[in-house]
Amino acid sequence: MNRLDVLSPVVYLSNNWLSLTGVLLVTTSTVFWLFLLPANFGAETVHPYLGILIYLLLPGGFFGGLAMIPLGIYLESRREKKSGEYPASFPPLDLRHTGLRRLLAFVVLATGANLVIASQFTYHAVNYMDSVNFCGQTCHSVMSPEFTAYQNSPHSRVECVKCHIGPGAGWFVKSKLSGVGQVFAVTFNTYPRPIPAPVHNLRPARETCETCHWPQKYGEDRLRVFRKFGDDEANTRTETVLLIRIGGGNGGPGIHGAHLGEGVSIRYAHTDEKRQDILWVERRDKDGKTTRFQAPDSKSGANAQVREMDCMDCHNRPTHIYELPERAVDNALASGAISPALPFIKKKSVELLKTTTGAGIPAALAAYYRDNHAPVFSEKRAEIERAAAAVRAIYDRNVFPQMKVTWGTYINNIGHTDFPGCFRCHDDTRAASDGRKLTQDCNTCHSLLAMDEAGPKILSDLGIGK
Ligand code: HEC
Ligand code: HEC
Ligand code: HEC
Ligand code: HEC
Ligand code: HEC
Repeated sequence: MNRLDVLSPVVYLSNNWLSLTGVLLVTTSTVFWLFLLPANFGAETVHPYLGILIYLLLPGGFFGGLAMIPLGIYLESRREKKSGEYPASFPPLDLRHTGLRRLLAFVVLATGANLVIASQFTYHAVNYMDSVNFCGQTCHSVMSPEFTAYQNSPHSRVECVKCHIGPGAGWFVKSKLSGVGQVFAVTFNTYPRPIPAPVHNLRPARETCETCHWPQKYGEDRLRVFRKFGDDEANTRTETVLLIRIGGGNGGPGIHGAHLGEGVSIRYAHTDEKRQDILWVERRDKDGKTTRFQAPDSKSGANAQVREMDCMDCHNRPTHIYELPERAVDNALASGAISPALPFIKKKSVELLKTTTGAGIPAALAAYYRDNHAPVFSEKRAEIERAAAAVRAIYDRNVFPQMKVTWGTYINNIGHTDFPGCFRCHDDTRAASDGRKLTQDCNTCHSLLAMDEAGPKILSDLGIGK
């Protein structure tokens, strides 16, 4: 009799379907877990939903399986005792023991099969879950607004995880855990529509954005031309030309330097969820001197929240960029996707975007020209159809009824024409104790080289007018 023989009843009794399933679960989850582990720690960023597998399903399988083994043994012994099959003594535990041989063979086979499956599966699963398609399309209708807007943005080649998780272990785990919650929300259909912004558990922007954007580099002036088209029959085109003082190109601190320069930090108190109603703003410069700018009609700050300013307070839409009808149609006209030669096309397109559904746009636009501009309708049929397709595309990439996303649902904080943006603070009323105000002077943030002019001289001087 050797010492292992005490285990003999266990081996004998574990020969039942419940315990064997348990063994299978335990070996499977162990093997898969071991394979997924390097993906978890090795890669810089891994998709949160992989965490569901690693942190939820596999441990669940492991512990569930572990519990099934003794439960199976217990039920088996009860059954055998009842039916009188229960042996008076158990055979010694060596390889002649059929129960042990069968159990060992089972474990070896299951592990072997798992090794083959896991090595194939995990490699593809990890790659797939990291991909933009997984993020954007797996939860298709939920994320379709963000995915669509992203595809039309300067970051369309940047993976979702680069901004939504970023480097390092801490946020990695945090995002895994929140990913688990998100999948439940999608499964049980409890997620909010639209997905609310600002995102509260977004990683501080400087830790993600600055893995690619070097603070000193974005320190130059930038020339921008905004093209607009009128509501008149000729869709008269005008241009606004701005030299935006992003950095200290002209000797001053520039926009980035003023808010995020070395040693500078700005805090503000807001009273609403969307961070639009700002109560006071406090700037701390590199010598540690703080200046507080307070609105004159100081509202009660009882439920105000204080936030430290970062990239997000201006660039909250770096990639999920939704357009407004006027601006989207202007851009399509400027790029030629919509022909400016069609009478009233600007006015009509904007009107249709605001009143019709995407699918209704082509017919409505055609009907408009047929009923009101018959000669144009017969001569420029192809141009009308092309314009209709472009207007419909604008609608389809900005309005998502099933997610309750429509024009203006998501606020953009850059600029001040479509949303309050910079003017949330720079409203010329908030003053410091020394009387200094948060300026609204038109030439502080940009030089206004031309404003709503038809063919401004500055553009021909620069050789970029047309
Ligand atoms: C360049 C960085 C960046 C990339 C790449 C990126 N996002 Fe975002 N995303 C953001 C920021 C910043 C916000 C938060 C906006 C806010 O708080 O107002 C956000 C917000 C969201 C939201 C919340 C709803 C909203 O529109 O505010 C969802 C959902 C989302 N992103 C999904 C995705 C998916 C899916 C991808 C990949 C297809 C992706 N993101 C790629 C930066 C990024
Ligand atoms: C993985 C790298 C990466 C990360 C992370 C990243 N960006 Fe970018 N970003 C880029 C690249 C590349 C471009 C240039 C695209 C181009 O010029 O076509 C760009 C362009 C931009 C632009 C200029 C857009 C324009 O109109 O020309 C802004 C603003 C910007 N990023 C802000 C952000 C912010 C804010 C974040 C953090 C939420 C961020 N980026 C995160 C790679 C990144
Ligand atoms: C106070 C508002 C504000 C903050 C805060 C801010 N930016 Fe900007 N940033 C701007 C403006 C305005 C522009 C110019 C936009 C335009 O060209 O229309 C800009 C432009 C950029 C560009 C494009 C530069 C170029 O030359 O193409 C990048 C990249 C960028 N910002 C990244 C960042 C990052 C990263 C952060 C956070 C560390 C940040 N910004 C914080 C206002 C801000
Ligand atoms: C949360 C409040 C807040 C928002 C939003 C904000 N700023 Fe500022 N900004 C400040 C504060 C505070 C100062 C410092 C003013 C001072 O010390 O006189 C400042 C200073 C500046 C300066 C330097 C002014 C000077 O006199 O030299 C520029 C330029 C500027 N901001 C541009 C912008 C632009 C562009 C935006 C929008 C994209 C913006 N700001 C949004 C708070 C804000
Ligand atoms: C606090 C900084 C700031 C101040 C002050 C400011 N602007 Fe701007 N403005 C911006 C920024 C940033 C943009 C670029 C927005 C973008 O990137 O789309 C802009 C864009 C514009 C545009 C083009 C917008 C469009 O979409 O057609 C016009 C026109 C303009 N500003 C006019 C003015 C006038 C007039 C004043 C004076 C009353 C003024 N701005 C004061 C920051 C400022």
